[in-house]
Amino acid sequence: MLVRVAVGKGTELAMNTPAADFSRAPADWTRGDLLDLEGLSAAEIERVLDTAQALYDATGGCRDKLSLLSGVTCANLFFENSTRTRTSFSLAARRLGADTVEFTSSGSSLSKGETFIDTAKNIEAMNVDAVVVRHATPGTPHLLAQNLGCAVINAGDGAHEHPTQGLLDILTIRQHRGRIAGLTVALVGDIAHSRTARSNIWGLKKLGAHVIVCGPSTLVSRRWEQLGVEVTHNLDDILPRCDVLNLLRIQFERQATRPFPSVHEYALLYGMNRQRVARAKDDILITAPGPINRGVEITADVADGPHSVILDQVTNGIAVRMAVLWLLMGVRRRGT
Ligand code: NCD
Repeated sequence: MLVRVAVGKGTELAMNTPAADFSRAPADWTRGDLLDLEGLSAAEIERVLDTAQALYDATGGCRDKLSLLSGVTCANLFFENSTRTRTSFSLAARRLGADTVEFTSSGSSLSKGETFIDTAKNIEAMNVDAVVVRHATPGTPHLLAQNLGCAVINAGDGAHEHPTQGLLDILTIRQHRGRIAGLTVALVGDIAHSRTARSNIWGLKKLGAHVIVCGPSTLVSRRWEQLGVEVTHNLDDILPRCDVLNLLRIQFERQATRPFPSVHEYALLYGMNRQRVARAKDDILITAPGPINRGVEITADVADGPHSVILDQVTNGIAVRMAVLWLLMGVRRRGT
């Protein structure tokens, strides 16, 4: 199958990929849960990305249905707000023929004193095969994985990790650049409170990218250097050598005190605007996990402009989540 990959303004790279075979799950994938990217090897990350790309192609860009997971039931357990991630997991399951069930903490028996583990065990007892969990407490998915027999997927645990977001960001970069190794990727914004930043750092570093974290010193500490990333507080200094910018939202809801004097000042120093795009590489790729705050980390014209691949990321989210569900269910079905 000839797959066309966008590699910049108007250019396309034709990649010859073998037609995908979904008749059996790959034998080299042995994980029954997806909890973080820190624990995955480069080969495992590549396996998810290749599977996601194959599913993207096989479903006409995540539009069509395949019946790879008929008979499977996936439950969304979201204890924090979500638009993209929750919808994307539901659509991914349904695109593969699985049933979905939605749980929200408000209106549940948690308010009647039931413990979190009991709630999850009761959902599992309804013959649920996979639980997708988002929770404000870091480590919640890991705790569930120890207590449940079904597959557990982390959809964001506090400021810790958001592995499918990291994977979809990396898949989008790979589609547009054809590779990850050797690229310089800057994560700009509220690194301290961002689970997306952590998953991106682990994933991008394992695949050979140079990662820079950039933002005010109150949100980007020198300690990030211990993870092998470059730390800077000056976006204009690093801008000319970046291939990709990942603009992270200021997570006011996780902050006890405001980390800078004003949002206006933040936008002046770190917001991506037309003037900064003009000083960046010609083919700079602008990504963001969403939700975006127009006028803060990105101006409207840049968000909607030719360098932005923010909505491609959203579509790719379905592909990545289809891949994760299919890989995990393959392991569960063969029992290894
Ligand atoms: C991110 C999240 O929830 O961590 N969003 C997302 O999943 N698409 C980032 C954010 O909320 O800013």
